[in-house]
Amino acid sequence: MSPLPRLAVLASGRGSNLQCLQDAITAGQLDAQIVGVFSDKPAAAALEKVAPAQRWACSPRDYADREAFDSALADAVAASQPDWIICAGYMRILGAGFVQRFSGRLVNIHPSLLPLHKGLHTHARAIEAGDAEHGASVHFVVPELDAGAVIAQARVPVLDGDSAEVLAKRVLAVEHPLLLASVQLLVAGRLAERDGMVHYDGQSVFSPLRLDSAGTLRR
Ligand code: GAR
Repeated sequence: MSPLPRLAVLASGRGSNLQCLQDAITAGQLDAQIVGVFSDKPAAAALEKVAPAQRWACSPRDYADREAFDSALADAVAASQPDWIICAGYMRILGAGFVQRFSGRLVNIHPSLLPLHKGLHTHARAIEAGDAEHGASVHFVVPELDAGAVIAQARVPVLDGDSAEVLAKRVLAVEHPLLLASVQLLVAGRLAERDGMVHYDGQSVFSPLRLDSAGTLRR
């Protein structure tokens, strides 16, 4: 039997996306293992979801500068020998050195329909912009913030009277199946990033895969 693909997860907060991956592994829906959870927030609830030996957390304040923190983080991630690095609610910008070290193996889930609403406060900004739809994207990470090739998206409607909190909950409900379906394809070796483009089963993807209501990604 070949060894299970190894996932390193970067998380800064509550860790519901990490939990979704763990639940899928337990249920036999994701053939992978989580080899470490890495955080810039030592108090992040996400860390509690794995055994102490699999946790790495340091505060950037304890490092001289961004490069020093990123390089310590990168060394810790590399030591876990990951096949894939998944940013699941990791809220600190990763420097170019980190991104280049893991290029092509580093993905992020972002709560907007990229290229719309990069950065923070995406739900409030979607409401403010009068968007009819909002959602989440899984993308390969490049040094420019939230600008890497988008693998897949899930969409939800923006409804009259939505607050940012209500809309965030609706988006989170589709983030979990979106991340799971994307990671299933990654670990199955069906996705790759080449020259800034996503390739799915060897073919270029010109617009992101879409999550259908059954939780399947479709071209
Ligand atoms: C998720 O909504 C994720 O998309 C977002 O943080 C949340 C983490 O939730 N990520 C970003 O905003 C990255 N820029 P979780 O900790 O419950 O998985």
